[in-house]
Amino acid sequence: MARPSRCGQSWRWPAHRRGLLSSHPKDFTPVCTTEPGEVWRLKGEFDKRDAKVIGLSVDPLGSHERWVSDIADATGHALNFPLIADSDRKVAGLYGMIHPNASDTLTVRSVFVIGSDKKVKLTITYPASTGRNFEEILRVLDSFRLTAGYSVATPVNWHERDDVIIVTSVSDEDAKEKFPKGFRAVKPYLRFTPQPKL
Ligand code: BEZ
Repeated sequence: MARPSRCGQSWRWPAHRRGLLSSHPKDFTPVCTTEPGEVWRLKGEFDKRDAKVIGLSVDPLGSHERWVSDIADATGHALNFPLIADSDRKVAGLYGMIHPNASDTLTVRSVFVIGSDKKVKLTITYPASTGRNFEEILRVLDSFRLTAGYSVATPVNWHERDDVIIVTSVSDEDAKEKFPKGFRAVKPYLRFTPQPKL
């Protein structure tokens, strides 16, 4: 079982790895308790995408330790990612996780994807009362990996095997070379090509 870790502990960050920082409004709350079990289930999927998960809640370490055993009881899964004990709300403040219109003390349910260059690539904010969809995060990680390696973007509701969009900075001439499977132009600025990694 991963033990909750104190904020400020060093965290090695290999090249190409992405980090997923996810805030839990409070320990021992019902929606929050369901989420770590799902992260546990999807661990292999995050590993495949070289993404490392870290959670955060504004409760202290002792509370996290008790909550972690409750999570195991409630979901049947041990916590398999570190959980920051942000009781001074330093990290929550830096990442804007406290929204005064919602609560002065608890975080909203934020997700940040942080790239290997340590820049924030994605922010999703849910209200505390709505549990996250981690499958969506996996979908976004797939899009990041593809668009980083090819001159493409991914369209609405895209999944791994779907066609992708050739970015507008690539001319039709260059597209013929770069995308040997061909492309179809719906508009001059909207050209689809089969997923280049398949
Ligand atoms: C929850 O995790 O269940 C929760 C947390 C804060 C406010 C509302 C719900």
